Amino acid sequence: MANIIILNGSPRKNGNTSSLVKSFTDGAKASGNTVKEFYLQTMTIRGCMACMGCSRNADPCAQKDEMKQIYDAFMTCDVVILSSPVYFLGISGVLKTAVDRMIAVFAKYGYEACQRDCALLMTSDDPQYDESVNWYRNYVDSVGWNSLGEVLGSGSAQAAYDLGASIN
Ligand SMILES: Cc1cc2nc3c(=O)[nH]c(=O)nc-3n(C[C@H](O)[C@H](O)[C@H](O)COP(=O)(O)O)c2cc1C
Repeated sequence: MANIIILNGSPRKNGNTSSLVKSFTDGAKASGNTVKEFYLQTMTIRGCMACMGCSRNADPCAQKDEMKQIYDAFMTCDVVILSSPVYFLGISGVLKTAVDRMIAVFAKYGYEACQRDCALLMTSDDPQYDESVNWYRNYVDSVGWNSLGEVLGSGSAQAAYDLGASIN
């Protein structure tokens, strides 16, 4: 049984990306996993200040906002799901802000202690995902995470469910 966190970067709780998130969650729970979703749009998460307090004595970040909930959940999770609509060939701003802020745990605990499995859930209007998926692949490579898969498109509910169900 795995402990899974989802960083949902869609602003629409009942939109296309959230629908994939729901399918994934249903599959993951059916396999006995625990799932905690962070709906980033309504959380107070400010941009990284690059103060590098995390490299000194911040705990783990000098900024005190709701990113703390994600840091705490991350340290005990096995799998991180990044979820976003395609926004101008990239990812949504709220997801980018949150993953930038992950630097605090990488700096404080080291990349080895922060190795996790991960996956991408993403939707767009066009079937053009290359830039966003490349961003995801480069991010997870750079932080040492192991990707379990990428589910792309609103029509991929079954694939999202299956990905969730495959985790245990
Ligand atoms: C600011 C903004 C930028 C977007 N940029 C793109 C884009 O570059 N390519 C694309 O195919 N769709 C783009 N879209 C459409 C969304 O990616 C698409 O409708 C997505 O499924 C919406 O997900 P949601 O229902 O979770 O909000 C954009 C939408 C918005 C609001």
